[in-house]
Order: sequence, then structure tokens, then C-alpha cells
Amino acid sequence: MRKSAFLIALLALEQVYAQTPTTGAAAGLQTPTSNFEWKEAYPVPIQVPAPKAEWVSSFDNSSIPKAPVGVPGAPGNDPYCHWTSTQCKRPSDIYTCPTGRWGLSFDDGPTPASPPLYDFLKQQNLKATFFLIGGNVIQYPEMVKRMHEDGHEIAIHTWSHTQLTTQTNDQIIAELKWTEQAIKEIIGVSPVLVRPPQGDMDDRVRNITEKLGFKIAIWDHDTFDWEMGTNPAVTAQSIEQTVKGWISKSTSGITLEHDRVNDTVNVAINTVVPLLKSKYEMTTVAACANMSAEDVYKETAGKGSAAGGDSAATSLTPATLFMAFGTAAAGIISMAI
Ligand SMILES: *[C@@H]1O[C@H](CO)[C@@H](O)[C@H](O)[C@H]1NC(C)=O
Ligand SMILES: *[C@@H]1O[C@H](CO)[C@@H](O)[C@H](O)[C@H]1NC(C)=O
Ligand SMILES: *[C@@H]1O[C@H](CO)[C@@H](O)[C@H](O)[C@H]1NC(C)=O
Ligand SMILES: *[C@@H]1O[C@H](CO)[C@@H](O)[C@H](O)[C@H]1NC(C)=O
Repeated sequence: MRKSAFLIALLALEQVYAQTPTTGAAAGLQTPTSNFEWKEAYPVPIQVPAPKAEWVSSFDNSSIPKAPVGVPGAPGNDPYCHWTSTQCKRPSDIYTCPTGRWGLSFDDGPTPASPPLYDFLKQQNLKATFFLIGGNVIQYPEMVKRMHEDGHEIAIHTWSHTQLTTQTNDQIIAELKWTEQAIKEIIGVSPVLVRPPQGDMDDRVRNITEKLGFKIAIWDHDTFDWEMGTNPAVTAQSIEQTVKGWISKSTSGITLEHDRVNDTVNVAINTVVPLLKSKYEMTTVAACANMSAEDVYKETAGKGSAAGGDSAATSLTPATLFMAFGTAAAGIISMAI
């Protein structure tokens, strides 16, 4: 989410929070006023939150890789495997799809621009993975409910859309756990998949995320839709050329797209998805990693029946998750996603 979007979110905050704090709410937490009966109080959407004390005290903080906070890796000097700097990957990172298949994903929702995308996907009978911002989840809970009911995968994109390698261990816990809690209040289950904003992760972020029971999923094909409106070179036409280039060269992939504003939703509906669908078997991010529909949520993970075919029967061992590194198809990574 860009600065302009943060400002919009800021303006929206006035509507999200009641004037008076909820009785019993911990310091800085309030019950959102969105159209949903929240049981819990939540932090302010656009700020890095503090964790609940119980999340920190129950967290096994032994042997977390000591990657320095806020210091990116560099080519030739990247001991903590910082993907955004060097595209370094670990076997546990989900980032592409088996040959012939394409993982569809959308980040930064839910937003007022999202519903036409839900309508389109339903009409096309397509399922996607939505990496949600917790601060948006508490503003638009009815959209989260709808995505889940429509059969999309609900996943986590942090609470405040911060760069996780710049946050302390406790802040990373807070970013993930608050978002998980808000989503669970709405759909009854806790997501397993996490996408760090900008793909910004190193071994410390990976370790904390995995210790909390999540799996990291990034991408290997960037539409650059997030630059629409700020980079004049990025238009629906340029994105069409980008996707046509993939179709001529790539055998599979996972895309980075956003249901953040109307422009990014419209280019998905009119250009990106129809083009991809003409060549690849469209699927979700979890399916790309052979995870079953049950594996997408903590409460049901590992309980998938084999009914879904070989994908459901394949367990998530490091071996099954291992993928060839350093593929030239990896998208260009920018720090401004
Ligand atoms: C680990 O957690 C314990 C208990 O919350 C805390 O006292 C300690 O300072 C933590 N250590 C580190 C390195 O964060
Ligand atoms: C976290 O890092 C430690 C030390 O490198 C390692 O032993 C442990 O397996 C890691 N845990 C996870 C869940 O990645
Ligand atoms: C965005 O699209 C919605 C329909 O989904 C429309 O109601 C709204 O006016 C549009 N906003 C802008 C800024 O064009
Ligand atoms: C998924 O399963 C297929 C076939 O069962 C296998 O070829 C592929 O390597 C697996 N991929 C991953 C990421 O586990």
C-alpha cells in the first residue's frame, strides 16, 4: 500500500472507531465500529501494533536467527537470505507453481475497490488467494466473510503493511497475530499463509513466522499494478504487454496483484486474469504448494482428505516444498511494493 492509500485509510479511521473506548479494552485498543459484532478490541489499523503479552510470553524465542533489524542483505553478503535484496530463497518459501499452472493472488484488501473482483472471479468460477491487511479486515469484515464463502483462500499480509525486516521480533509477532485474530473472528479459522509486504523477509522473519505456525508465500511474476497511478510508464497497456511476455516464456507462476484501488482491480478483470487463463490452469497459491483446502487454515491443517487428488495427499515435508532456486523467471523486486 502506498502513501496515498495510507492517507485514505487514515481518513477512514474516523468511521472505524467509536468515540469512546470499549469497556475493558487494553491500552490503545478499541472495538471497531464496522458492521460486525466484534468480541475483541483491536489496534489502530495503520500503525505497527504492540503484541498481547500472552503472545510474547508463550513464544519460543530461543535460537531466532540474529539478523540485524533494518539492515538489508546485499549480493555477496547476505547471510540471512534477504529476498528483497538478493532474491535469496529458502526451501520453505512458496513462490511458484508446478508446470502448466498459475497461482492467482491479490494483496492489500479488502478495500472498497474489491467487490467487483469478487463478482468477476465468481462468474469465472476462479479461486484466488487474498493476502489481507489486518487494519482493512476490521474495516470491511463483510468482504472477508464473502471471500471465504466464495471459496477463496484467506491469508495474512500483516496488520499495518510494514516492512517486517525493519520490525523487532515482538512487532512481527503483533503484525501477524492481530491479523490472524481479526480474520478468525470473522471466518472461524486461522490462516496459514503469510505474505510479507514487499516480500521483505530474511531468516529472522521466516523463523518467527514459522514458529507461529504460518508458511510464507511470495511470488515470481510481478504485474507492477501497484505502480499504477504513480509511475506513468505503468498502465493497463504496459501490464498487458508484461503478461503477454510471460505467456510466451513462462511455464508456470504465481502473480503479484492488488485489489487496492479501482485501477488495479480493473486491470486484473480486463487484462491479467483473462490472458493468464488463456494459457494456464488457474489455481490458488496453496494449491501451487500441494496444500489441500484444509491445509490453508491452522485448525484443519493436515486433516485434508485425499478426495482432492494427489495434491491433497501430499504432505508438506521440506522435500515436497523444495524448489529449484535462482530461476531466471523471478520477477524484478522493488522496495516500493
Ligand atoms: C525471550 O522471552 C522471555 C520471556 O518472555 C523474555 O524474558 C526474554 O527477554 C526473551 N529473550 C529475547 C532474546 O527476546
Ligand atoms: C529457527 O532457527 C533456529 C536456529 O537457526 C532453528 O534451529 C529452528 O529450526 C528455526 N525454526 C523454524 C521454525 O524455522
Ligand atoms: C470505483 O469503483 C466503484 C465500483 O466498484 C465505484 O462505485 C467507485 O465510484 C469507483 N471509484 C472511483 C474513484 O472511480
Ligand atoms: C506437488 O505434487 C506434484 C505431483 O504430485 C509434484 O510433481 C510437485 O513436485 C509437488 N510440488 C511441490 C511444491 O510440492
